[in-house]
Amino acid sequence: MDPIIFLDNAATSFPKPESVYVFMDQFYRRSGVNPGRSGYDLCLEAGELLDGTRKSLAAFFNGADPNRLCFTYNATDALNLTIFGILQKGDQAITTTLEHNSVLRPLYHLWKYGGVEVDYVPFDNAGFVDPAEIRRRFRPNTRLVVVNHASNVIGTVQPIREIGRLCREQGIPLAVDASQTAGKVAIDVQRDNIDILIFTGHKSLLGPTGIGGLYVREGITIRHTRAGGTGVRSADRLHLEEYPYRLEYGTPNIMGIAGLKAGVTWILEKGLDSISEHETALTKLLRDKLREIKGVALYCQDDLANHVSVLSFNINGLEASDTGTMLDVDYNIACRTGLHCAPLVHEQLGTAKIKGSVRFGIGPFNTEDHIRAAAKAVAEVAAVADGRRKARPSHGQERPSSK
Ligand SMILES: Cc1ncc(COP(=O)(O)O)c(C=O)c1O
Repeated sequence: MDPIIFLDNAATSFPKPESVYVFMDQFYRRSGVNPGRSGYDLCLEAGELLDGTRKSLAAFFNGADPNRLCFTYNATDALNLTIFGILQKGDQAITTTLEHNSVLRPLYHLWKYGGVEVDYVPFDNAGFVDPAEIRRRFRPNTRLVVVNHASNVIGTVQPIREIGRLCREQGIPLAVDASQTAGKVAIDVQRDNIDILIFTGHKSLLGPTGIGGLYVREGITIRHTRAGGTGVRSADRLHLEEYPYRLEYGTPNIMGIAGLKAGVTWILEKGLDSISEHETALTKLLRDKLREIKGVALYCQDDLANHVSVLSFNINGLEASDTGTMLDVDYNIACRTGLHCAPLVHEQLGTAKIKGSVRFGIGPFNTEDHIRAAAKAVAEVAAVADGRRKARPSHGQERPSSK
């Protein structure tokens, strides 16, 4: 069988650059010990990796103070620290219908059990949230705005700079979920008016799973929702107030941090612009080819100017999971199907009732050949579905809506 065509990079990037595997392996063998806890050489080396990666990432996002970049397990972890560490009973939070469950569920829990109100701003037919609509929802008790920088279903990149500007006018913290953009889209927390930037390491930052983090601007307060070892000032009864310890708990994932460091180094060597150019060209090619296929409905793919390399579609008459199975079994193409942990996107698109969509996520190692093969496979699956529909009277079949 031909090698797998991996088009599930929006879930996690695969493969990683060779340098990521090599550096992780070498680092962990040589100095994979607990950083910052003792004074022996290996420990210092691990500490240097931790601090060096903190500095590289803070610089990558143009954060003014590297110590305010904290490592977590992933974006979900960082979002939980943010949401539970800011909101309290009586507060209102504003978010969007584009969010992932890593935002929606913490907010839902706070709504159900914590006396927090949540307002959900919908996206328009092109897949964008209107900053003015967010402003219209501001109330005296609004304490947090959380916005997905780019949707993991439809790929649209939100106007966060303008949203941030409006939030700043009211002194409301803006948290941006950059899970789908960090490593793909240039992010400058100062220019983009971001108060809390949340990222995950295993997607476009090209690191391994189990590492992520957040950058918190000076002046923003996130309460402790956990406490534990920090390796310093062990006699203190309470968890430390100062960053980065404030939001870091226990032994860090030093191997993950090594991989993240190597991933960011690779991105800097290649250049964010050249990676993004490559992915955008492939996304456009795929979008154009899928558009030509009878029976394929694409969602919010008209404006690729503000878009990451994520495309969602359905084939008329097929559930997304059936399309995904055929692409996998018959063509060895890996994609993601279903609701993609973003149920409100599908409710708004009208695709929830047909169990979501098929998603292609393009990464830096995809090629034009992959895209042509994927488009050809989708065309063949669509032709089979079309043939089946014609062969039997299939009244009542849902037709995917196209927005
Ligand atoms: C937009 C978005 N937010 C949050 C997450 C959660 O990331 P992680 O699973 O790394 O915590 C994802 C991952 O799919 C995502 O796409």
